[in-house]
Amino acid sequence: MSDPTLGTVAVLGYGNQGAAQALNLRESGVSVIVGARPGRGAEARAQAALFEVFAPADAVRRAGVVAMLVPDEAAPGVWAEVGGALAGGGAVVFAHGYNLLYGSLAFPAGADIVLVAPTGPGRVLRQLHERGEGLPAYLAVHQDGSGKAWARAEGYANALGCGRAGLWRTTVREETEVDLFGEQAVLCGGMNALVTAAFETLTAAGYSPEIAYLECVHQLKFLADLLHDRGITGLREGISSTALYGDVTRGSRVIGESSRAAMAQALAEIRSGAFARELAAEVAAGQPATRREVARGAEHPIEAARRRALGLAG
Ligand SMILES: NC(=O)c1ccc[n+]([C@@H]2O[C@H](COP(=O)([O-])OP(=O)(O)OC[C@H]3O[C@@H](n4cnc5c(N)ncnc54)[C@H](OP(=O)(O)O)[C@@H]3O)[C@@H](O)[C@H]2O)c1
Repeated sequence: MSDPTLGTVAVLGYGNQGAAQALNLRESGVSVIVGARPGRGAEARAQAALFEVFAPADAVRRAGVVAMLVPDEAAPGVWAEVGGALAGGGAVVFAHGYNLLYGSLAFPAGADIVLVAPTGPGRVLRQLHERGEGLPAYLAVHQDGSGKAWARAEGYANALGCGRAGLWRTTVREETEVDLFGEQAVLCGGMNALVTAAFETLTAAGYSPEIAYLECVHQLKFLADLLHDRGITGLREGISSTALYGDVTRGSRVIGESSRAAMAQALAEIRSGAFARELAAEVAAGQPATRREVARGAEHPIEAARRRALGLAG
């Protein structure tokens, strides 16, 4: 059932989150238009999905609610161009608090500025909605211009399908700091460094790269699924007694005091704003460190081992 407080929603950025959110909102009965740069991939993809597509400022002018789903580093520039077109009493929805916490975006005093952050990738948000399920979401209010910003955020999250799984009220600071920490310590940085270090340890000791890959990387999904479905205690019920003894006696040696100190350091850099300043300088310089490390990773023997182990071409 469509929420009448939403009116027309302009989705800016038809990428990972934007496409999933636009489709879920439309299926929930919300009137959705897309704002995209002319001649780029997002415009064509949104048109192929039968959305009306406008230049970003035009889309904002036609909407009561704007979903800012462009990449975080692009949001300040996009908002500077389109923010003036926001209707009085309008609302802006962000999927991550990064620019609300660290940025200096200017919003009209009467606008509602809210955070609706689904707890997973757009692909999963979309898949769960198609199955009649949902992804939990965090909600926060950055600015309550109407006095009804929480209700608007909830209406938007429900139209995404997130209400089926749970809406968690938080603050922009908590969502942003915990999200950054989670991706640095575990979900992206920690995981990639852990599997790479394990692969290098085995291959340096003379073990076959393909078997090292299958054991330390490929199987991670099966165990992550168990962890997701049953928690740590449930996972431990599903592994062999040998694996369990290795878990309880070796795991905290691998992730020991030095890893905990590194986690505390990463968290301190997030909380002080040092990480955001470092990232802003990296973006301003054209992301040289990011490009260098991604290129180095693509050449790592773990990639060739993956292709051979899984029988993939190339
Ligand atoms: N990735 C996720 O699933 C995920 C999960 C939770 C939260 N979030 C948050 O969701 C937001 C969007 O992230 P995302 O990963 O979905 O972004 P994304 O996939 O990288 O792409 C966003 C889209 O923005 C468009 N875009 C880029 N620069 C633009 C500009 N200057 N003007 C207009 N459009 C522009 C791009 O289209 P064109 O280049 O074709 O114009 C692209 O399709 C971020 O705040 C992110 O933190 C993302």
